[in-house]
Amino acid sequence: MKFYLVVNSLFFFYQIHKIINFKKGQEFKIQSTNQKKDIEVINMGDIVKRAKEHFGNLVEEQLERVERMKKAKGWKDYSKLEPIIIGAAGGDGIGPEITKHARNILEFLLKEEVEKGKVEIRDIEGLTIENRAKHMKAIPDDVLEQLKKCHVILKGPTLTPRKGDQWPNIESANVTMRRELDLFANVRPVKVPELGIDWMFFRENTEGAYVLGSKGINITEDLSIDFKVITKQGSDRIIRLAFDYAAKNNINRVSVITKANVVKATDGKFLAMAEEIAKEYPQVKWDDWYIDIATAKLVDPARQSDFKVFVAPNLYGDIITDEAAQIQGGVGTAGSANIGKQYAMFEAIHGTAPRMVETGRTKFADPSSIIKAAALLLNHIGFTAKAKSLEMALDICAQYEKKIEVTGRDTGATGEEFAKYIMETLQDPNLEDKWNSYQK
Ligand code: IPM
Ligand code: MG
Repeated sequence: MKFYLVVNSLFFFYQIHKIINFKKGQEFKIQSTNQKKDIEVINMGDIVKRAKEHFGNLVEEQLERVERMKKAKGWKDYSKLEPIIIGAAGGDGIGPEITKHARNILEFLLKEEVEKGKVEIRDIEGLTIENRAKHMKAIPDDVLEQLKKCHVILKGPTLTPRKGDQWPNIESANVTMRRELDLFANVRPVKVPELGIDWMFFRENTEGAYVLGSKGINITEDLSIDFKVITKQGSDRIIRLAFDYAAKNNINRVSVITKANVVKATDGKFLAMAEEIAKEYPQVKWDDWYIDIATAKLVDPARQSDFKVFVAPNLYGDIITDEAAQIQGGVGTAGSANIGKQYAMFEAIHGTAPRMVETGRTKFADPSSIIKAAALLLNHIGFTAKAKSLEMALDICAQYEKKIEVTGRDTGATGEEFAKYIMETLQDPNLEDKWNSYQK
């Protein structure tokens, strides 16, 4: 009897052993990361080992990033810089055209400062998809070097390659620039006076689903895994910026957006950080919203004007700011500030509009978004009155007076004509009164 039991359990363990070994030895097809080799055949043990190594490297990288954040320098004081260097990078598609117009407006507004050597405006060459593809880099080294020599950057839209198009699938230049220059805050204002909407979005810009967006892993032909990262330091600095903004502007509401009920570790950390930081701002009320319902409430006429300041992790912020811009009149009407403690970059919120270029309509592209970005730039480096004038002129030209209109086609004005119209409006000594007269 005993002997029978022993034999039986031995047999049982032998079967288990066989199953385990069969699984370990099982072969999988995996898509090689080397594009020239298509499919490799590899067994499960090796696959798991590879995935662990990959994950291990990411964890190391991220721990190092946390250390860098802890040691990061404080805010740059633009009032102490001479000259303040503004770099203009045209980008792709309609980018160079619209950037040229915004740059001209900046030159016009800063004429005296440029003459006195207080400001320098320079062109950044090579942030084009052709050059990026040639170097197989989202931002080629020499371009990054040029960018780092500037204090603030005005940037046209850059093409983001995607699988299957004619370009190598390199990382987005936007995402890379935000990471390389540590531009952790994506600040996007949206205003619709007739609906009582005056929103300010603080989107985290260097973490979330983006920071490792190009570092996901195709484990096998059937299984792909991406990673999302939230850190204490990364959440702290963006949430603090949102609360600071609210406190300084006497705004009594900050809405924190996550999906912390489902995405528990990362979004959970973001929300927990908000709870902590909010305690330091007792004068600012705050509430938390899940991204889905927040998206719905933005278009709810009964609620939308109650919202004031939003703060959100990267991807939610990306989505909700496009929605908000659409409520304002389209993504072409919004500008975007990418702010870090040492550098800042200001850009149009829309894409490169390849169809406009293909159909010969580049010169009819609307420069409003990048002009708005130029106003945000002026404000950031301390020219607040000039920034305000530019915003008023833009409102008058694009929304109220509309002596000419950019339609994106030859039925409307060219970007150049529109920029001239803005510069004429800026020269109106009664600019503010004129703007005020439209507010009633
Ligand atoms: C934006 C854009 C970018 C983003 C793209 C171009 C990578 O949509 O600035 O919102 O997703 O951040
Ligand atoms: Mg976006």
